[in-house]
Amino acid sequence: MFARWREVARRYGFVEWDGPVLESTDLYRKKSGAEIVDQLFNFTDKGEREVSMRPELTPTLARVVAAHERSFKKPLKWFSIGQFFRYEKQQRGRLREHYQLNCDVMGASDFAADIELIALCIDILRSFGLTEEDFVVRMSDREFWTDFLHQQKLPAERWEEVLQTIDKFGREPREKTEEKLGKLAGPVFSIFDKGGRSGKLDRLVDGLGARGLAGFVDIDVKIVRGLAYYTGTVFEVFDRAGKLRAIAGGGRYDNLIAQLSEGAVSMPALGFAMGDVVLGELLRERTAAREKLAAAVKEQNKIDIYVVIAKEQRRADALEQIQELRDRGYRVDYPLTPEKVARQFQTAESAGASITLLYGDEWPQVKVKNLATRQETLVTTEALLDSVAKFFRVSDSA
Ligand code: HAM
Repeated sequence: MFARWREVARRYGFVEWDGPVLESTDLYRKKSGAEIVDQLFNFTDKGEREVSMRPELTPTLARVVAAHERSFKKPLKWFSIGQFFRYEKQQRGRLREHYQLNCDVMGASDFAADIELIALCIDILRSFGLTEEDFVVRMSDREFWTDFLHQQKLPAERWEEVLQTIDKFGREPREKTEEKLGKLAGPVFSIFDKGGRSGKLDRLVDGLGARGLAGFVDIDVKIVRGLAYYTGTVFEVFDRAGKLRAIAGGGRYDNLIAQLSEGAVSMPALGFAMGDVVLGELLRERTAAREKLAAAVKEQNKIDIYVVIAKEQRRADALEQIQELRDRGYRVDYPLTPEKVARQFQTAESAGASITLLYGDEWPQVKVKNLATRQETLVTTEALLDSVAKFFRVSDSA
């Protein structure tokens, strides 16, 4: 999973970074919003500081970028794969520790960045063999709601509270939402029923449509996201069947860097995070995706060469050769202790080796066996490196 995440993020020109796992609790208190603060794994350290295991990466990212922005050319396109901790009630799809891929773009205010980021999120899921029948990106825009609340003449201090209520709609009984929204309930429910739209959301769909990705997205203004810092486009990814928790979520947070640097650095930003837990559940359910992942794991773990030591007297010679082959970049394995030859060949097969090199009675010749064709050739030790190089050149180009 991590290899795919990394590969596709790099395909989009993102570079990898990471931050600390422990942060000051204040960083989240100020920036993430009430829901995450309730879920913090926090404690007082030996220096009497209030610290937390990170529940998410975005506040750290904003802090780091605000402090070092001059060292980098904009826009910054960064990704990170790391472990996160939330003291949540454990349930299907939500655990107390999980891994996330975070992809963020900083210093890009143009709408093109929003489209690029959502396209990346879709392409990552496609790389696992998932299709538009398996998942959907539900896109929305916080500005749609803040414009609405402005029209409704609701004071700006109360916007966050309303957005949080909308975010919980679907997870809470309708009556509870109604009660919390008060006189806004009527207009809000009417938007839910009609399915709100805006020019900006339509442009988002068009931009993704131009890349052939329109089938993967839906507009859904009920999505506002639970985290406090979002300012514009927001989105969440769900399985089509609607059985699982969100696979990924993100959006624009144009004010966070300025807030964290007390106005010293102002930089628009947007990003998303995808978790391993729900994605893992979806991949396990989809046969094609599951098989694709299993094949990729097998391919990734394959070795090139297995060295069979048939005569223990040849072990030192074999090790000298193994060292040289590994120096040249081949993946080489061999038995650490004496073993029957037949067993060594079994290990070679199960490790996915392409060839075996047998060190035995034929010394100073080595028996090279192509495990796919079963063809065997005797090669002198002097000619061995060239012969191995030729084999992999030919099989790589085939
Ligand atoms: P989030 O929606 O809180 O966003 O988390 C992103 C994803 O992480 C979720 O969709 C889910 O798959 C996974 N996840 C979160 N909590 C858990 C958990 N307890 N167990 C398993 N998986 C979990 C953020 O964290 C934002 N910081 C994303 C972001 C990056 N926004 C901008 N840049």
